[in-house]
Amino acid sequence: MIKLETIISLAKQRGFVFQSSEIYGGLNGCWDFGPLGVELLKNIKESWWKAMTYRQDIVGVDASILMHPRTWEASGHITQFSDPMIDNKASKGRYRADNLIEEYIEKLRKKNKNEIADKLEIELSKAKEPNDYYNIIMNFSIPDPVSGGTDWTEVRNFNLMFKTFLGPVDDSASTIYLRPESAQGIFVNFKNIMDSARMKPPFGIAQIGKAFRNEINTKNFLFRTREFEQMEMQYFVKPGTELEWYEYWKEKRWHWYIENGMAPEVIRFKDHEKLAHYANKACDIEYLFPFGWGEIEGIHSRTDFDLKAHQEFSGKKLEYVDTVNKDRYVPYVIETSGGTTRGLMAFLCNAYTEEKLTDDSGKEDTRNVMKFVPQLSPIKAAVFPLVNKDGMPEYAEKVFDDVQKNFKAQYDTSGAIGRRYRRQDEIGTPFCITIDGDTLNDNTVTIRERDSMQQVRINADKISNYISDKLIR
Ligand code: GAP
Repeated sequence: MIKLETIISLAKQRGFVFQSSEIYGGLNGCWDFGPLGVELLKNIKESWWKAMTYRQDIVGVDASILMHPRTWEASGHITQFSDPMIDNKASKGRYRADNLIEEYIEKLRKKNKNEIADKLEIELSKAKEPNDYYNIIMNFSIPDPVSGGTDWTEVRNFNLMFKTFLGPVDDSASTIYLRPESAQGIFVNFKNIMDSARMKPPFGIAQIGKAFRNEINTKNFLFRTREFEQMEMQYFVKPGTELEWYEYWKEKRWHWYIENGMAPEVIRFKDHEKLAHYANKACDIEYLFPFGWGEIEGIHSRTDFDLKAHQEFSGKKLEYVDTVNKDRYVPYVIETSGGTTRGLMAFLCNAYTEEKLTDDSGKEDTRNVMKFVPQLSPIKAAVFPLVNKDGMPEYAEKVFDDVQKNFKAQYDTSGAIGRRYRRQDEIGTPFCITIDGDTLNDNTVTIRERDSMQQVRINADKISNYISDKLIR
């Protein structure tokens, strides 16, 4: 299993992901996407957008990040979107109390202290209030994982929404929030979209956008960050049909990850044991990260909770009126909620491959390849003149100009051809096109495929078709 540090350092060296404001020492929980990262992010979003909205029953929206503060009262975020926080008085370490207990359970299991770990797990599953977490930490003498001390403060609930002010006056009357999920931008636009796009249930609204959570502890690179991006879809259905649609969306979302190169062994469904008060079924899709299984997407059957809450708080009817069957109802909702940036990290881990190769003389070598499926690869093709003379660079530049009309491409003239292939393998470019002496006579080029390393010779004017055929979706 690869180490997370390998992925973080590769992401930096090759220009996928940098620490935010690194020259100032970085900003905790925030990351920037470099030249390759931004392409990968765009490709993930494009694949999701096509899969989710290139169909008759789903349309898109792009709502504001800043929303009317009543939104968050209705959704319950103001009163309930908080995590239990605890501080160690001596070390000043600050933790999410539930995570502190979970990590302690893991440690106990590693030491085969399963009996006490089981007891703790039962206690944790019952905990709801800050005091419940505090009692567990004290009763089991759970230590600070860094300092080992047990001098803890009380547990307090900490709201995860970032606050700011609308306009120049910073008083409580002008307090607004950075959205902690994109979903509410969909719910508040439900009626506008249903009416303007003439949709009727079952139909969905999809959105990709940034979300912000003032997480107590950020961790594991892009896994838990304070600024991140989500790809969410709310599917509005007739009450009573929601569980069929829930199964439908579980299947669809699973296949999206498979189509994008994840093997069935590295993803799994995990049913929610504790259902949120508004949900009647929920699960996560988890990916096997270097640190273990972690959620990459949630699929939730959210009943009519959100629309009814917005109806109550706004005083506006949010129902579907079926004039043909003389029926009216507030639709139930199936939500698919994936992390774009957390997903990017999963796709990076998934693509990373070290291959042992033996050349004709028996010499061993290691090849580092990012095996993205071609539709996710940041660079689709690289163009090389075999040598920098005899008209090859001029021909190659023309080929490059042609290819990049349709695909993100790179042009590389430096170093031996083998070295140039390796550089592209390391960033996951699926196709390398070489212009050689024969090209000038018969207009054919070689295309070398990244994973098989096989070469085919094709006519130069067929290059774009060749690449398009390999990009599914
Ligand atoms: N609207 C439902 C919702 O937001 P969630 O399970 O809180 O549900 C959905 O978030 C997805 O958003 C997660 O599966 C994860 O991929 C991503 N996500 C949530 N919090 C995150 C964070 N702090 N950093 C990065 N990604 C996060």
